Amino acid sequence: MKSIEYLKNFYEEKYNSIDFDQLSSHNKREIQLYRKYWKLICKKTKRNHINHLDLGCGIGTKTYAIKQFVLKSTGVDLSEVVISKAKRMFEESGIIFKADDAFKIDLEYDLITAFGFSLFNEKDIDIYTKHVFHFLDVNLSEDKGMFVLGSFTDFSGKGEESWYLHTKSELECFKKIIEASTNYKVTFVFPHRKIGNYIGFGIYNFMAEVYKALKKRKNYFIVISNG
Ligand SMILES: C[S@@+](CC[C@H](N)C(=O)[O-])C[C@H]1O[C@@H](n2cnc3c(N)ncnc32)[C@H](O)[C@@H]1O
Repeated sequence: MKSIEYLKNFYEEKYNSIDFDQLSSHNKREIQLYRKYWKLICKKTKRNHINHLDLGCGIGTKTYAIKQFVLKSTGVDLSEVVISKAKRMFEESGIIFKADDAFKIDLEYDLITAFGFSLFNEKDIDIYTKHVFHFLDVNLSEDKGMFVLGSFTDFSGKGEESWYLHTKSELECFKKIIEASTNYKVTFVFPHRKIGNYIGFGIYNFMAEVYKALKKRKNYFIVISNG
């Protein structure tokens, strides 16, 4: 497991080398994409979330995409560099951006998201679930809370050096552990398996999603909620 110190240095260096001004068209596409994913994720739950926390928010594009569906959003990231850029980029949004270790946040939220969050880039399911339990126990309001984790995989169990690609049985094991120890239900949302991922968002979206569906690595979301 990589230490917080290591992750902080790693991401500070990475973010220092990115020209964020060049990212605006990429950002626009990502915002549209995540709003679409959000509609697919929330189709069944029909919840109105009020207070949202985004763990490891990075530049805040996905935090901003979700902000449209909630009253209040907070993005937290270890990197001071990226948080100062996020504050500037999404100045008008009302999102609170904080440079801090997510483990130090002690407030409760009714929606927590974590998209590509480094602490869930973990092969060992016991360590992975331990991290998830921390946020369920400390930060998620139990009665109506929802926790959404976003990642990608080809189910190969490879990629330990960069992004670990969980296997089907590891994901099932994760679900079993969470459901056996809490009242939450765990569902997996694979956007490429849903018709709504392709239709109603224009021809560019359709072509891009068909292309992605043909590739091995798939985006997916783990939704932890109690109904
Ligand atoms: C792969 S990036 C994802 C960024 C963003 N969520 C996205 O999808 O574009 C992982 C982020 O997690 C942050 N991170 C890692 N460990 C963290 C921690 N303990 N507390 C807060 N942020 C953390 C890193 O600084 C980095 O910005």
